[in-house]
Amino acid sequence: MSTTLPLEPIEKASIDELRALQLKRLRATLAHAYAHSPVYRAKFDAAGVHPDDVKSLQDLAKFPFTTKADLRDSYPFGMFAVPKQHIVRIHASSGTTGKPTVVGYTQNDIDTWATCVARSIRASGARKGDTVHISYGYGLFTGGLGAHYGAEKLGLTVIPFGGGQTERQVQLIQDFQPDIIMVTPSYMLALADEFDRQGVSAKDSSLRIGIFGAEPWTNDMRQVIEKRMGIDAVDIYGLSEVIGPGVANECVETKDGPTIWEDHFYPEIINPDTGEPVADGEWGELVFTSLTKEALPIIRYRTRDLTRLLPGTARTMRRMEKITGRSDDMMIVRGVNVFPSQIEELILRHAALSAHYLCVLSKEGPLDNLTVKVETRQGVSPESSEARAAAQALMHDAKAYIGTSLLVQLCAEGEVERSQGKARRVLDLRKR
Ligand code: DLL
Repeated sequence: MSTTLPLEPIEKASIDELRALQLKRLRATLAHAYAHSPVYRAKFDAAGVHPDDVKSLQDLAKFPFTTKADLRDSYPFGMFAVPKQHIVRIHASSGTTGKPTVVGYTQNDIDTWATCVARSIRASGARKGDTVHISYGYGLFTGGLGAHYGAEKLGLTVIPFGGGQTERQVQLIQDFQPDIIMVTPSYMLALADEFDRQGVSAKDSSLRIGIFGAEPWTNDMRQVIEKRMGIDAVDIYGLSEVIGPGVANECVETKDGPTIWEDHFYPEIINPDTGEPVADGEWGELVFTSLTKEALPIIRYRTRDLTRLLPGTARTMRRMEKITGRSDDMMIVRGVNVFPSQIEELILRHAALSAHYLCVLSKEGPLDNLTVKVETRQGVSPESSEARAAAQALMHDAKAYIGTSLLVQLCAEGEVERSQGKARRVLDLRKR
């Protein structure tokens, strides 16, 4: 019996076929939003644009952006484009301040989402008969249920663990022998530590594939996880406003940035300052338009995620460069822009340091100070000469490669806060 799972025809379609489908779906989506969502109608009218104006995919750039503020202003259900009785599911993202952003799904939306996640899990290397352990949180967060429906749709066996209870998760991974784990990369590391604590070899576990997302992680982090866990680590991207996880996913055979499932989500990159679209290959802010959603069509949603679009490799559809940061996460330290992912890359060059870190910003008079709290690797004391040399090198590299001075605070194992979902990488005490 073959263990491979066949691709959907559209994954192999020609670019022309794909673009034609996108245009057809884009026109239908804009017409639906205009006809059924008063918020979109008002926005389109104010901008002097009408869905009938769209003759090519480029015409989308004439339409106004949608932002988190639009969703907040119409809290909770004001942007929905179908009557309430057609909504079968609600999710919400907590955000750090203010009201949550609320999203809704029709039954067709749930099916579309499950199809995209199933496609993502297959692209990650799933085979028939695989078992998936899900450690993304279940609940209003889209991670757990999104992964769950996709894995079931693919016909795999699902273990719906959710976040937390680290010790028990590791026990059940040994008992139930899953092939695939879906979890945030930072929580994967916490699970790996727990394997060590229990004296069990993580590398020899049944796991073959990890599907990691919901937060930025670097290629260096990929190597650390692959080596520690003995798995293929692939990147899954998504956001609740657009649908949830499964907007894009890396193909395991290339691991060269997530392939965007462009038949459902149309990507653009814009200059974040001017809002002007930039060409493929150029860096900027990622913007998405949904092409098939019913309950909450999303038109030119500004994700705040920074990346660039790249040509397809394993699929016809375009890829995005692995997200290195959100414009919201950018730290400005004495005028220099710094992303946590840049710090992560430098940390992971040192065998004495672990991937558990936190950037703490404080003020000393008028000056910003950046202190990187980083745990030493298991078995390496923060007082050891090896750890101190790594700290010195890290301070030097930060100055040389990023152009910022920083202090390194070496911590023992367990001293940096562990996440059970999305890791917090920045603590900004300047705002207190
Ligand atoms: O985090 C959906 C998700 C769940 C994706 C599980 C992947 C896996 P939100 O809570 O709305 O949705 O947060 C979306 O998380 O705009 C990015 O900033 C960040 N993010 C998500 N996936 C990745 C990734 C889910 N693979 C926000 N790499 C997005 C980097 C990611 N950042």
